[in-house]
Amino acid sequence: MSFLPFTRPSIDEETIQAVADVLRSGWITTGPKCREFEETLSQICGGRTVRVFNSGTATLEVALRLAGIGPGDEVITTPLSWVATANVVLTVGAKPVFVDIDPATRNIDLDKIEAAITPRTKAIIPVDLAGLPVDRDRLYELARRHKLRVIEDAAQSFGANWKGKPIGSFGDLVSFSFHANKNLTTGEGGALVLPDAGLAPLTEQLRLQGVVRRPDGEMSVEVLGGKSNLTDIAAAIGLGQLKHLDEVTAKRRALARAYFDCVEAGLGCALPIADFEQSNWHMFQILLPLERMTITRGEFIARMKARDIGIGVHYPVIHLFGLYRKLGHKEGEFPHAEAVGKSIISLPLFPAMERTDVERVCTALRDVLNETRK
Ligand SMILES: Cc1ncc(COP(=O)(O)O)c(C=O)c1O
Repeated sequence: MSFLPFTRPSIDEETIQAVADVLRSGWITTGPKCREFEETLSQICGGRTVRVFNSGTATLEVALRLAGIGPGDEVITTPLSWVATANVVLTVGAKPVFVDIDPATRNIDLDKIEAAITPRTKAIIPVDLAGLPVDRDRLYELARRHKLRVIEDAAQSFGANWKGKPIGSFGDLVSFSFHANKNLTTGEGGALVLPDAGLAPLTEQLRLQGVVRRPDGEMSVEVLGGKSNLTDIAAAIGLGQLKHLDEVTAKRRALARAYFDCVEAGLGCALPIADFEQSNWHMFQILLPLERMTITRGEFIARMKARDIGIGVHYPVIHLFGLYRKLGHKEGEFPHAEAVGKSIISLPLFPAMERTDVERVCTALRDVLNETRK
């Protein structure tokens, strides 16, 4: 049987041809394909202004700069995310303030945010882990009440919606990632949705060395910008992927349903929230019943690999990485996130999978857990 990875992008022949066309066109960096990609993304995001970048880390960093966040400021976020979510806060010189997760959704616990707000708090970065949206009604009510900016780390929730409204089509700054594992990929890439079209010029300056090209052919530089523009090669991949977005989301939801049917309840694994309306099912994550197992998570992953099944870990908690321990963080601060971070695994889920693949994963899961039960 062939190896089943935990994820794999689906790139169709038409997209490969479109990339070849860009390569032959004589213009391969930022150009017409990026502009077309931005326009198409804008249509999905309710007509809001979108700018594309070379990563979802760059989009978050630029969003923080657009919100004027820097040294002396605090930004509230979750400890259970890809480390980029907190790293960007440090990059702009501000302080990430973590708030524990709700163990059911595995997203930031909105009930605990208020206690973490101080006079220095400027923004909240919510993360839609695995594509399950954070409650946008409660989030924005809280942000409005405390006059906080929101930078939605929607890296994983492109294609998801909140009460029928696509993520990105409303709210403050919204950041997407198009990394290779995401539901829509450009290889590497990202997009930032702006709350106000007037921010587009500054966004473009922050994206590329602060440069403003003047109509007379001269250029000026007034702000410090980075180097995070997307290439037309990548944009051609994104445009090809967009054509399949609805179909991909539907397929992921169907595979997630299949997991709910097939993971045996008696195994003691904690399942995700069964949301088939809003989540884009970027990942299907379960918690291993480690207290009932004779092996570690690492050994479990090795045993699944021996059965030709790839398993991901998303994520170990951020505050216990060495960099964050040096800032004073320690075990026990965020018990729910820590418990989930230790036991969480991502089962294979990608659009080219079939129900029989899900069944194969669930059989292997059952066998490994039964042979390693205490
Ligand atoms: C939650 C989250 N935030 C931020 C990022 C950063 O995106 P990128 O890898 O495109 O820089 C990712 C993706 O890797 C992510 O999953």
